[in-house]
Amino acid sequence: MKDRFGREITYLRVSVTRRCNLNCVYCGKADCEKKETELAPAVIERLVRAFVACGIRKVRITGGEPLVRADVCEIIARLRAIDGVETLALTTNGVLLAQSAAALKQAGLDSVNISLDSTDGSTYRHLTGADVLERVLAGIEAAQTVGLFPIKVNAVLMKGVNSDGAGALIDLAKTRSIDVRFIELMPFSDAGETASLLVTGAELLRRFPFLTPIESEAGTAKYYTGPGFLGRVGLINPITEKFCADCSRIRLLADGRVKPCLGDETVYDLTPYLDDAPALQREAARCILQKPAGHQFESRAAAHGLNETGG
Ligand code: 5AD
Repeated sequence: MKDRFGREITYLRVSVTRRCNLNCVYCGKADCEKKETELAPAVIERLVRAFVACGIRKVRITGGEPLVRADVCEIIARLRAIDGVETLALTTNGVLLAQSAAALKQAGLDSVNISLDSTDGSTYRHLTGADVLERVLAGIEAAQTVGLFPIKVNAVLMKGVNSDGAGALIDLAKTRSIDVRFIELMPFSDAGETASLLVTGAELLRRFPFLTPIESEAGTAKYYTGPGFLGRVGLINPITEKFCADCSRIRLLADGRVKPCLGDETVYDLTPYLDDAPALQREAARCILQKPAGHQFESRAAAHGLNETGG
């Protein structure tokens, strides 16, 4: 269905946990380890069904880190079985991917995005608090081996932190058929500090002049190729090229609340309607209609950390 601004809302991102096995510097909340009640797979299914009835066709499972849930394959299988879900994707930090890739594929997952901000072991450890780069690289390998497709690597660059490693990340797109996408740093913690760390998409195009634009599907990323590249380089510029007018997304938090915009604090609680399918669908439609025109990153940091919303 369309929202108030004429945007067709087709893409639901579902955070299945706030827990995470990493503690990344830019995530914005320090309580990544906190345990809490998570929604059961059947409840997640019920919520997703309500949104699918409103026109959702693509679902992305995210977190926190979704693979820390032992029942993530049950969640995938349940969502895969919903008529109308055309694409089922998952975003992960990749730490547990090598051991779970085959089961995820088997459960019905189509594609995977892997967060990887550096291919240098010590920079990776500094950024995430964990010495697990090799496991993530093995996870990417495993995802390719079992046939998850497409495979996208997401990187957030920060000046003086991991910006120098951009070339090595671009090399991943050169030598493998994966998309490496650079996401401009959004203010999920201290807004002022975020601005001084920002590496813009335009800056990357100046640094890597061999990147040439290619026709890309409508969406948040603009894609580029380079000489002899097997994969693509994507630039996602939420700060310097606000793409809110084309946003097709809505977000479900791990506790059953709905967040219509990543960059806006408003949330709607759907848990009172869980046992009443028609009411749930009506409220899901209301959430879509309440989606704001655009994010507010320029004026303040987002109130919810990314561990809650899953990016
Ligand atoms: N700005 C931009 N992207 C971010 N991500 C996490 N924090 C930020 C931020 N502050 C990215 C992660 C992951 C995705 C879910 O969101 O790198 O790939």
